[in-house]
Amino acid sequence: MTRVGIVGFGFMGRQHLSRYRALRGVRVAAICDGDKARLTGVREIAGNIEGTQASLGLDDIAIYTDFEKMLAEQRLDAVSITLPTFMHRDFTVKALEAGLHVLCEKPMAMSVEQCEDMIAAAKTNKRILQTGHCIRFWPEYVKAKEIVDSGRYGDVRTASFRRISPVPGWSWKHWLINQDKSGGAIMDLHIHDTDYIQYLFGLPEAVRSEAVVGPSGGFDYVATQYVYGDKKIVVGEGGFVMSPDFKFEMSFVISLEKTTIVYDCRHTPALQVCPAKGGCITPKIEPGDGYSREIAHFVKRITGKKTTDVITPLDSLNAVKIVLAEKQSAEMKKEVRIQ
Ligand SMILES: NC(=O)c1ccc[n+]([C@@H]2O[C@H](COP(=O)([O-])OP(=O)(O)OC[C@H]3O[C@@H](n4cnc5c(N)ncnc54)[C@H](O)[C@@H]3O)[C@@H](O)[C@H]2O)c1
Repeated sequence: MTRVGIVGFGFMGRQHLSRYRALRGVRVAAICDGDKARLTGVREIAGNIEGTQASLGLDDIAIYTDFEKMLAEQRLDAVSITLPTFMHRDFTVKALEAGLHVLCEKPMAMSVEQCEDMIAAAKTNKRILQTGHCIRFWPEYVKAKEIVDSGRYGDVRTASFRRISPVPGWSWKHWLINQDKSGGAIMDLHIHDTDYIQYLFGLPEAVRSEAVVGPSGGFDYVATQYVYGDKKIVVGEGGFVMSPDFKFEMSFVISLEKTTIVYDCRHTPALQVCPAKGGCITPKIEPGDGYSREIAHFVKRITGKKTTDVITPLDSLNAVKIVLAEKQSAEMKKEVRIQ
């Protein structure tokens, strides 16, 4: 039985718990959160997950408020780091040094240097480090990549990606709406699309961005063109500056020579492939969501099962690097090359 811990039991910690629980051969043995009320269910958490201890069913899980104590007392194989982003580096390095594999939520860290520290610790301690870029595992995005990569419909001519939401209200001590702790929406939310774009098309040569300062005090809305030095146009738009009643949107339109792929999480069917003739098709997609598939992938990797790595630590570092270039481009109002 693979023994996993979770540190940070807010919105994402709960997502990880339920996804691990759905897997065989793995057990969440311990959970750590600095805020005891979150562990007892006294503090409500946003999302669809109930806030009571009874409904969370934590009775068979060792509960900690101190991460180092958890590391010292539990014989864990791996840990999910589902903490605010500004804590990712320190907790990840500590866990790797304690000999655990780590699934750290995205964004990997606040800076390229912090990402490098994490990668170095994984190498030194010969442990697996995976980042929670769940969009690489999201069934509709997996299908779209499969279609693009197959070459069946020719080359991509245009690709646009959108991820927009109201201002998040749930985060612990409002860390999400503090740019020093989250990097703002450009780093926290938009990075999902930045990473998917590099997954589809590789590292862009340069970025051109315009951005808006929002409630975090940093860029909470961005529109970017990713420059590839060929004929295709690739753009991404994202942020959390919408009004409270706006329904979260993640969507894309990818236009190839012989078809258009359309996705909008708010529509049914959400994914459609529309060739020039014969009407739109609703492709069959894999069951589950990006979280369950990403966590199953992590468990496969740490238990030595054969897999092709979907996301490497270097990919995760590059996602941070591109977003920081977008930020710089918006600040300087000019194109920034990706080095
Ligand atoms: N993959 C995704 O789709 C996705 C979605 C949302 C958030 N995230 C990422 O997940 C991470 C966590 O975000 P969240 O929305 O769950 O935040 P959250 O505010 O809901 O939860 C953070 C938790 O960390 C706890 N915490 C703070 N300091 C601690 C410490 N020293 N020791 C132990 N626990 C401590 C808090 O009490 C809180 O429960 C962030 O990096 C965020 O970017 C990813």
